Amino acid sequence: MQILDGQLVSRNIKDSLKLDVAALVAEGRKIPHLAAVLVGNNGASETYVAAKVKACSEIGFKSTLLRVEDSVTENKLLSLIQDLNNDPDVNGILVQLPLPKHISDEKVILAIDPAKDVDGFHPVNAGKLVLGSPGFVSATPHGIMLLLEYYKVETIGKAAAVVGRSNIVGRPMSILLSANNSHGNSTVTLCHSHTRNLKEICLGSDIIVAALGKPGFVKADMVKEGAVIIDVGITRVPDAGKKSGFALRGDVDFAAVSPKCSFITPVPGGVGPMTIAALMKNTFAACVNQN
Ligand code: GUN
Repeated sequence: MQILDGQLVSRNIKDSLKLDVAALVAEGRKIPHLAAVLVGNNGASETYVAAKVKACSEIGFKSTLLRVEDSVTENKLLSLIQDLNNDPDVNGILVQLPLPKHISDEKVILAIDPAKDVDGFHPVNAGKLVLGSPGFVSATPHGIMLLLEYYKVETIGKAAAVVGRSNIVGRPMSILLSANNSHGNSTVTLCHSHTRNLKEICLGSDIIVAALGKPGFVKADMVKEGAVIIDVGITRVPDAGKKSGFALRGDVDFAAVSPKCSFITPVPGGVGPMTIAALMKNTFAACVNQN
């Protein structure tokens, strides 16, 4: 069994982007600028956004963190996004999800200029992904593909089960793995809460992507020998032994499943750092496209 080390691969990608930024500077060109919008103070969102801002500073990108009160009106948030769309210095915009209940995710995502939508959530970018046209690919599935490519994990002709059909992870992941290219061409089953024979589908799969947000859901008896396991889950569970009071748990029962696998991502240190690396790659591309 080999660990798919997201920490290591993410570091490599960020080191390479650092050189790319240095080259832009040497040519007197504009450096990438990411604007991150954080609404309220959800603990997990705070952590994710802080990691994104930190990655920008490590690489040499400019970043702006815009903190907005939980009570912000939808119109106010939409007008903030409009300002960022119109600001020629800003290349990438991300609004951290989830948003408070009184704000429509859909309206907010639609308001972002697709050319600055480095999260790849806008329907224009989601549509391009489906059609196989160049566009921004949602950072988590994009990061997973980069990880599979780095470790030369074969996908062509493989049976893949993607468990979870979210717009952010499961659905785009199913499209990427089934795309007609050298790191796709898998036969994908997209599983969800109404899937009847989930265990049998997983048992028949060479690749399982677990993205349903249920800690320890994928058990050893659902996994065949030699499978590739990608664990997207990252749930905070109470842990009195930790200073923070919580531990992070993936969607896969790592201790029981890992001995059966050919490759597996750990939690933390697998998909999480790759999401950040992919976001940084998208932001760099946005800047180059715009200048
Ligand atoms: N919430 C969970 N994952 C993500 C992500 O990739 N981007 C944003 N903006 N919000 C998220």
